[in-house]
Amino acid sequence: MRLDKFVAQALQITRSESRTLITKGKVTVGGEVCRKADAQVAENAADVCAQGKPLGVQQFVYLMLNKPDGVVSASTDGRDTTVVDLVKDAFPRRQLFPAGRLDKTSTGFILLTDDGNFAHDILAPKRHVSKTYTVVLDAPVTGEMVRGFEQGVTLADGQTMDPAELIPDEADPCRCTVVLHQGVYHQIKRMFGVYDVGVNGLHRTAIGGLALDEGLAPGQWREITAGELELLRRR
Ligand code: URA
Repeated sequence: MRLDKFVAQALQITRSESRTLITKGKVTVGGEVCRKADAQVAENAADVCAQGKPLGVQQFVYLMLNKPDGVVSASTDGRDTTVVDLVKDAFPRRQLFPAGRLDKTSTGFILLTDDGNFAHDILAPKRHVSKTYTVVLDAPVTGEMVRGFEQGVTLADGQTMDPAELIPDEADPCRCTVVLHQGVYHQIKRMFGVYDVGVNGLHRTAIGGLALDEGLAPGQWREITAGELELLRRR
């Protein structure tokens, strides 16, 4: 690829900013200053430096976001703020999208990426990547619900859900943890709806083996590390 493109991608700057760096002699290839923006370098070149710092092109971006209440899980929306709106200024040239959805009023872990294959993989029904939620109900959890979730709740429309874990909170009878292994629209609300119980709060705390970083306040995000990505790929 062209050197100016390589530098622009690596530093998340514009092509013209990248050309300025190159023509000013701030970029080296194989230890030699290169002032030619159209010089060809390999896409995975490891010997390009800008201002003395080695550059490696990050092929894809993977972020964990703590979604706040009221933000929609979409890339764009005519009316509401989206999860992508919360991160896009930091990645102006990336086509980020949410890998999976939360309802507008739900909060917690949303994974954003521009890696379509990865998203497809972790969302594939066959992979059964688990999703863990803290749920606040308008009534106490009962043994009937725990057993029903374990066996597979049949929704009002006749669909039977895969077995799920429902773990009551010892300190608060109206709180629980739910672990799902599939993703059906409004799944948790509909599962509790079968017992005439309403959901007052729903917060996703983990995707597969990867927990939402508790240091992220609502609306905050950070990049997922390579080790954390492995945790997701494994489950
Ligand atoms: N189940 C729901 O009902 N809503 C969510 O946002 C996620 C799971």
